[in-house]
Amino acid sequence: MNPITAHPGRKRTDNYNEEVKLEIRRYLIKHIIDSGRKLNVFDACQGDRILWTQLEKEFPLESYFGVDTKSQRGRLTIDSSRIIDKLPEETTFIDIDTWGSPVPHLLALCKGKTRYDYVGVALTIGMITRRGAGAIPKEIQYLMGLTDNIRIRMKLQGPLTAKLQKYIYPYILYLPTLHDYDIIDIVEAVPPSRTARYFGMILQDQRKDT
Ligand SMILES: C[S@@+](CC[C@H](N)C(=O)[O-])C[C@H]1O[C@@H](n2cnc3c(N)ncnc32)[C@H](O)[C@@H]1O
Repeated sequence: MNPITAHPGRKRTDNYNEEVKLEIRRYLIKHIIDSGRKLNVFDACQGDRILWTQLEKEFPLESYFGVDTKSQRGRLTIDSSRIIDKLPEETTFIDIDTWGSPVPHLLALCKGKTRYDYVGVALTIGMITRRGAGAIPKEIQYLMGLTDNIRIRMKLQGPLTAKLQKYIYPYILYLPTLHDYDIIDIVEAVPPSRTARYFGMILQDQRKDT
């Protein structure tokens, strides 16, 4: 995995996050543009639209669609994991900048009826805290070999869940390959922040070739 090193040069943590998040997205955008495709963006966690307000100054956006669970005038209020598999097939960038786990989004994207030919996916994976019992999504626990039986025996609770945190990333990042997407590039912004890790992937639909 290529590390991307960001040099934020700023003190505040939220600004630091902003800069590393931008670096990941710039890297993916260049990939998409270099492949001759246009930038059709779905911002699944729009928030204050800070990232894409900056990125649209730097790159030509063919289209942009942003939603959030927080209501705002003129914006669709929805859990974006419910529509991530219903976007136009031409979508080339899906931005999943959640505060928590991006697994429901990633699963919906990979399992959905709409197959994205070639898509950049930016992922924020929040850290699980000691109190975060059950915070590892079930699908990931199963991939890790933590079946019901084992989970009950181990009493997989908050503090243990937090200890398992460092093992979950490969399983999350592996999900697309289980659903016939090739990961043709993957990067992580380093160093990670104390609260999250930031990844970017380019996915290509294997089924389109056959
Ligand atoms: C870290 S902020 C995103 C910041 C944003 N990228 C920006 O540039 O301002 C996370 C946002 O994701 C939203 N969110 C979290 N889970 C969501 C979901 N399942 N569907 C839609 N929005 C979600 C939250 O309401 C919050 O506004």
